[in-house]
Amino acid sequence: MTGTQATERLQVAVFLSGTGRTLENLLERRVSGGLEIDIPVVISSRSGVRGLDVASTAGIETYVVRRREHPTPSEMSARIQELLVPHQIDLIVLAGFLSQLEILPEWEGRMLNIHPSLLPLFGGRGLYGHRVHEAVLASGMQVTGCTVHLVNAEYDAGPIVLQRCLPILEDDTPESLGARVFDLECEMYPEAIRMFSEGRRHSHGVESLKRS
Ligand code: GRF
Repeated sequence: MTGTQATERLQVAVFLSGTGRTLENLLERRVSGGLEIDIPVVISSRSGVRGLDVASTAGIETYVVRRREHPTPSEMSARIQELLVPHQIDLIVLAGFLSQLEILPEWEGRMLNIHPSLLPLFGGRGLYGHRVHEAVLASGMQVTGCTVHLVNAEYDAGPIVLQRCLPILEDDTPESLGARVFDLECEMYPEAIRMFSEGRRHSHGVESLKRS
């Protein structure tokens, strides 16, 4: 990825596998919430998902890159990188992307994920969607939250860039908790992207994203 000059709008690629709610939120924030990004390309690991419709309706170029045709994470990442190169992407945003990738050297420090729990709790392989909230409720925790982190080779284990918590209510179900966590995600992901953009302006790196 070559990226843009520091004064230009951040070029963001969104990877998804499902409903595209996260993409939808970023598109809305771009209009109403002062999120100064362009999303020139969306990659989906599944065909026929709503997220692809959300992207097409917004005039975004879309590609489906399935595991079936790219049997290893390394092959899948190589194909995706071929598709990204013409777009000069600064940042990759994972938005409910459910396929394992190899993190290419070009992507290191430039790929964010959001996870609906307080990592490192309730993360890792198999813990996604409602499964996370079911596990949180079963644990007896009184708080949960969500986490934006840089993606590295380990599932949900990259450096945390932003984390917020919210209380678990007595009558919470996985659905009600998931809905409140998602509302929080909608605030946090744009904020983390802004932080990335600022960090890039001031230090041309991601170190300033990391909070102690
Ligand atoms: C969110 O719960 C997020 O935490 C996780 O994927 C979900 C969003 O997927 N990474 P989608 O945008 O509804 O497809």
